[in-house]
Amino acid sequence: MINSIKSFLKRNLAYQPLLSTQVPRQFLASVEDGILPYCPPPEGDLLHELITQHACVDCLEIGLATGSTAIYMLYALQNSKGRLISIDQPSGEMNDIGMANLQNSGVGANHQLILENSVNVLPELFKKHETFDLIFVDGWKTFDHLAAEVYYLTRMLRLNKFIVFDDAAMPSVNKIIKMMLKYYGYREIDYLHFNQTWRLRLFQILTTKSFRRPYRALQKVTDEAELPVTRDWNFFADF
Ligand SMILES: C[S@@+](CC[C@H](N)C(=O)[O-])C[C@H]1O[C@@H](n2cnc3c(N)ncnc32)[C@H](O)[C@@H]1O
Repeated sequence: MINSIKSFLKRNLAYQPLLSTQVPRQFLASVEDGILPYCPPPEGDLLHELITQHACVDCLEIGLATGSTAIYMLYALQNSKGRLISIDQPSGEMNDIGMANLQNSGVGANHQLILENSVNVLPELFKKHETFDLIFVDGWKTFDHLAAEVYYLTRMLRLNKFIVFDDAAMPSVNKIIKMMLKYYGYREIDYLHFNQTWRLRLFQILTTKSFRRPYRALQKVTDEAELPVTRDWNFFADF
């Protein structure tokens, strides 16, 4: 019974990936081993569509690992000759695999890897006045670490541009997203514009047994100078 329900779901709710991401998807399918955290096609499509639909040029990711999210982003950045900076810790066990994948996929030209704990790198990038159009957060996911990261990330993200969180169902990531929606001047994207169909949503709910999305994207709609977190030291209320 359970097996027939599973195969019914697989047949009827299977994700239809975008034609425009066929190249990175096929490359990743050829190297994927089913064990390492390769990016699933719908998440790759979301990153690709955010970048191409909203003319993103400067991108940042925390967590290179297999390079799969970097490959989707760099492929989407090809026409605009945009760039991606990835941050990963020096002890990251998958960095060599990620860099080899980037080289073999042929999209590595406008990519820079910074090997250092993200909490040390982000203040440095901020001091250099770096700004970004899309930021993908997929590194260390305790609440305190993410809170330190988003303090800098929100100040480096350009107005009307995007921050995407992987593992958004984790309580720590969910709480950070709540904080950003309530106090940091963000709104959640309309996923339907990015090939994140209702059929996919149903598939995700049934397979994860959770109503929390596995990854989420927010758009920065208010300049931080206008926010209570910047203007009023005493603003804090629970979230
Ligand atoms: C889930 S993996 C990222 C998956 C990646 N996006 C992909 O496409 O394969 C998480 C990565 O974050 C890195 N990481 C963990 N803590 C970090 C930190 N404090 N600073 C930078 N990178 C970190 C790990 O080394 C690991 O490579």
